[in-house]
Amino acid sequence: MKVLITGTTQGIGKAIAERFLQEQHTVIGIDRQEASICDSNYTHFRCDVRDYENLPDINDVDILINNAGTQNEADIDINLKALIHITEKYGVHQNIRSILNIGSASAHTGAEFPEYCASKGGVLAYTKNVAMRVAQYGATCNSLDPGGVLTPLNECVMNDPKLWAQIMNETPLKKWATPKEIADWAYFLTVVNTFCTGQCIVVDGGESINYNFVWKE
Ligand SMILES: NC(=O)c1ccc[n+]([C@@H]2O[C@H](COP(=O)([O-])OP(=O)(O)OC[C@H]3O[C@@H](n4cnc5c(N)ncnc54)[C@H](O)[C@@H]3O)[C@@H](O)[C@H]2O)c1
Repeated sequence: MKVLITGTTQGIGKAIAERFLQEQHTVIGIDRQEASICDSNYTHFRCDVRDYENLPDINDVDILINNAGTQNEADIDINLKALIHITEKYGVHQNIRSILNIGSASAHTGAEFPEYCASKGGVLAYTKNVAMRVAQYGATCNSLDPGGVLTPLNECVMNDPKLWAQIMNETPLKKWATPKEIADWAYFLTVVNTFCTGQCIVVDGGESINYNFVWKE
C-alpha cells in the first residue's frame, strides 16, 4: 500500500515509517528536515507542512498518517491547520483506506501548553468530521492520542532527574511509551482495523485517569 506520513525524520513519525517499511509498504515522508531513513521503498520530500504552494503532488494515497507537530511553535498553524490542509489534499478521496491523526492525551485533559492543547482538541473534532465524510468510501479515520512518549521533543524533561521523578509520579504505569510502541498502535489502527472509526484513542499509561479518591476514614 502507498502510505503518506508527515514528520518522518525523527521521533514517532520515523518509528511509524520504519514499521510500515518493515512490512514492505511503499512509504512517502514529508518533513522540514532532511531524511534520516534510507530504504528503497521510502521517498522523502523536504517541505514544511505549512508551505501549501510547494507540497508535492502525490496521487492515490491508501493510508495517510498526520504526525508532524510541535509544541510552542505556531501550534495551531502546524498541528491543526496544516493537518487539515494535508488531509483534504491527500486523504479525502474515493480510494483512501484509512487516515490516522496523531493527536495528544492533552486534547482530552486540557493539560500542557494552551495553544498546544487547543490545537490537539481541534484535531479531535476534525477526526470525527473526516470519519463521517470518508465512511462512504469504506475508509476509517481515527486519532491516536499519546501521553508521554520517549522522543527528542521531550528531551528537556527526560534528561532532568527531578522533573522525571515528578512525571513518573503522575503516571500510574510508571513509564512512558517508546516510539515503536506508538508505531504498533498506528499500524493496527490503519491496516488491521476496519470497523473502528471517528474515535480518539488515548494511550497514556493511565495519566489521564489519575485521580485521588477523597473519603472519610
Ligand atoms: N512525544 C510525545 O510525548 C507526544 C505526546 C503526544 C503527542 N505527540 C505528538 O506526536 C507527534 C510527533 O511528536 P514527536 O514527539 O515525534 O516530535 P519530534 O519533534 O521528535 O518529531 C516531529 C517531526 O515532525 C517534523 N515537523 C515538525 N514541524 C514540521 C513542519 N511544520 N513541517 C514539516 N515537518 C515538521 C520535525 O522535523 C520532526 O521530524 C506530534 O504531533 C506531537 O504533538 C507527541
